[in-house]
Amino acid sequence: MDSIIVTGNGPLKGQIPIAGAKNACLTLMPATLLSEEPLTLTNAPRLSDIRTMTQLLQSLGAEVTSMQDGKVLAMSSHDIHNHTADYDIVRKMRASILVLGPMLARDGHAVVSLPGGCAIGARPVDLHLKALEAMGAELDLREGYVHAKAPGGLKGGIVDFPFVSVGATENALMAATLAKGTTVLKNAAREPEIVDLAQCLRKMGAQIEGEGTSTITIQGVDRLHGATHPVVTDRIELGTYMLAPAICGGEVELLGGRIDLVGAFCEKLDAAGIGIEETALGLKVTRGNGRVRAVDVTTEPFPGFPTDLQAQMMALLCTAEGVSVLEEKIFENRFMHAPELMRMGAKIDVHGGTARVTGVDRLKGAPVMATDLRASVSLILAGLAAEGETIVNRVYHLDRGYERVEEKLGAVGARIERVSGR
Ligand code: EPZ
Repeated sequence: MDSIIVTGNGPLKGQIPIAGAKNACLTLMPATLLSEEPLTLTNAPRLSDIRTMTQLLQSLGAEVTSMQDGKVLAMSSHDIHNHTADYDIVRKMRASILVLGPMLARDGHAVVSLPGGCAIGARPVDLHLKALEAMGAELDLREGYVHAKAPGGLKGGIVDFPFVSVGATENALMAATLAKGTTVLKNAAREPEIVDLAQCLRKMGAQIEGEGTSTITIQGVDRLHGATHPVVTDRIELGTYMLAPAICGGEVELLGGRIDLVGAFCEKLDAAGIGIEETALGLKVTRGNGRVRAVDVTTEPFPGFPTDLQAQMMALLCTAEGVSVLEEKIFENRFMHAPELMRMGAKIDVHGGTARVTGVDRLKGAPVMATDLRASVSLILAGLAAEGETIVNRVYHLDRGYERVEEKLGAVGARIERVSGR
């Protein structure tokens, strides 16, 4: 298993290109199942999760051709001959559940393994299933699989989510495009990835209104046609790399960065004393001398502070002036980076979903363990400004969501290298 070695090396300077969004691409790819005509995605990120989704779609019979070094995905679902998403693929990546709605909408039947939990929580899919049942699906759970049927096709219905779920909104939105009649999604997720999916589906001929708000209305159509769609910028990669100069000092321009994708996050960076400026190429982040100010953070569904940036923000607050309180409201176990940061000298008290971080002058490099995607990158960020060497092990977690992290950070002056097989 690879490790990444980071050595504190002072202020950063230069530009970092931001890729297409992993979490948009992982829902745009299953949308190919909704049409027999080609769907081509541009600005796709080069990540292991995308390769896993590619394998899953190919196992169903879709053709997925990766071009231009992985930035273009040409897909065609003309011949879907297998309607079963096997456990051995689904267990590697929970987003595999997103083939359920499209397969059911296209052919009226699907068998998809339940994803099981992951490091950050149990992550059930009950809201996905309830949404499809509200559209007339008959679901039978047995031996770890969802056996779904919609003999006469899905019918429009009212889906009232008891709380916001990104994935359940995506599954329901895709399924509703081919349902007979009108579907209304209430308390729908408002994430930019939902907006991106709706815009792609509309290009394919879907009739959708209200994406980006809490109520999305879909008028089902008989069929969808092909399209070409650019994957929206990855707001989580953007926020992650904005924190690099915030932690190390210096000035870094994030190419392709958009302030509307990271509004709540930028408010917290601003409160902490970090400079953010919109430029013609993206966002420029600067941090002068002096310490960062402590801020309190509570994670919420979009447009609130994203849970996927909580670990990275904690890395910044470990050396802030004062005490910061972070509340994780989305997942039940998303502070696994805290004990690792404490190995580096951070002062963190975790009680349930609340972490109190008391800022220290500087962290000290240490061997640490990556436990999940965002925790692993928070350790790298902490290592950028720590005294001495930090070795982050099990970086396969990292490669799921960040392409070429050592190249991107190395290009702005970080001392970072990947060592294989430890
Ligand atoms: C998506 O996961 C993202 N993944 C996650 O990013 C992100 O953290 C999450 O949304 C929240 O923004 C992808 O888009 C591939 P949810 P998802 O359904 O859809 C509970 C990353 O690091 N829930 O909004 O699975 C669930 O357990 C990943 O890139 C149910 O109880 O998240 C969680 O506590 C991590 N029943 C909360 O709701 C359900 O049926 C929000 O989950 C569905 C969810």
